[in-house]
Amino acid sequence: MLVLGIESSCDETAAAVVEDGRRALSDVVSSQVAVHARYGGVVPEVASRQHLLSIVPVVEQALQKAEVTMDHIDAVAVTHGPGLVGALMVGVNAAKAIAYARKLPLIGVHHLEAHAYAAWLAYDDPGRDPGFPLVILIASGAHTDLIVMRGHGDYQLVGRTRDDASGEAFDKAARILGLGFPGGPAIQKSAGQRRGEKPMPRAWLHDSLDFSFSGLKTHLLHEAQARGIYPPGDAPADAEAVAQLAGAFQEAVVDVLATKAVQAVERHGARGLVLGGGVSANARLREECARRSPVPVLIPAPRLCTDNGSMVGAAGYYRYMRGIAHGASLDAAPSLAIA
Ligand code: KG4
Ligand code: ZN
Repeated sequence: MLVLGIESSCDETAAAVVEDGRRALSDVVSSQVAVHARYGGVVPEVASRQHLLSIVPVVEQALQKAEVTMDHIDAVAVTHGPGLVGALMVGVNAAKAIAYARKLPLIGVHHLEAHAYAAWLAYDDPGRDPGFPLVILIASGAHTDLIVMRGHGDYQLVGRTRDDASGEAFDKAARILGLGFPGGPAIQKSAGQRRGEKPMPRAWLHDSLDFSFSGLKTHLLHEAQARGIYPPGDAPADAEAVAQLAGAFQEAVVDVLATKAVQAVERHGARGLVLGGGVSANARLREECARRSPVPVLIPAPRLCTDNGSMVGAAGYYRYMRGIAHGASLDAAPSLAIA
C-alpha cells in the first residue's frame, strides 16, 4: 500500500511516498530556514505564504522521486495539527483536494504521532523490538513532550513544556550569544567539547515530568550581560566566553531532557526510548540518553527527526490499518491534543 504523506505544520513543506508504513520511496523537504533566519525565528504569515509556493512542486517531486504517479497512490495522509493554523491549512487543503479528485481515503495525522513513527522508518519494527510500551521524547522548536505509546494509536502525554520548547530555548540562547539561527546547531558547534566552567540552573519542577526552560534562558541572558556579550557591542564578543556559556547552557538542557526521559521510561515500564524532533540531532543529548537509559534508545537519523513527509505517511498507514480515515470534514486543528 502506498501512502502520500504531507507535512506543513511549521516551517517545512514536505511530502513523501511511503510503502506499507515502513519504507520511504521518496522524501522531499523544502525548508524555510533561510527565509526565517533573518527574523531569528519562524514568522507564521511568512510560513503560510512559503507553503503555498512550495506545496505543489514538493508533492510533484515526491511522486517523481518515488517513480510513481498519482494512479499508484492508495491513500493521502496529512498533518492536521497541532501547529500554525495558516501553515496547517495549506497541507490539509492540498491533501483534501488530491483525495477528492482521486477518490482516495484521507487520513489526518497528529504531528507528534508522526514524529513517533519516524522510528518505524528507521528501525525494523519498534512495536516488536524492543516492543511496547515505548517512551517518545519529542524535542523540537515547537514542542518538548514525553509520550507513552502502549500500542499503535494508544498514546498518553506524560510530560510537556510549561513555557518554551527546548529547540526554542536553543534558538533564543543562540540569539543572546550572537550565534545565529537555527540556534541548536550553532550552540553545539560553539560549545565543542566544553560543558561550561559554571553549571547553569535546571528546573526540575519537583517530581513532575514537565519541563521549563524560560528560567534558564533568563539566567543565560544575565550571564551574557555580565560578560559584555549581550547586547552586542562594536567589538566582537570573546569567543571563548561565548563557548563556555554555550556549553553550560547545552548541558543544562540536555541534563533535564535525558533525566526526565529516563524517569518516564522507569515510571511507565517502557521497553524502549525513542527520540524525535530537531533537538534530537544534538550530539550531547544522544550521548546522555544512550548512556543513562536502562532500555534501548532509538534515534532516527537527523533528517527523519526533523519535520518530514515520510513520518506522516508512516503514521497515516498505521491509522488506516486501524480503520481511521477522515474524509472531507478534515480540518486544520492548531491545538489538537494527542490523547
Ligand atoms: O523538528 P524541527 O526541525 O522543527 C520544529 O520545530 O518542528 O526542530 C527545529 C529545532 C530548532 O529549534 C533547532 O534549533 C533545533 O531543532 N535543533 C537543535 C539541533 N539541531 C536542530 N537543537 C540542539 N542541537 C542540535 N544539534
Ligand atoms: Zn515537528
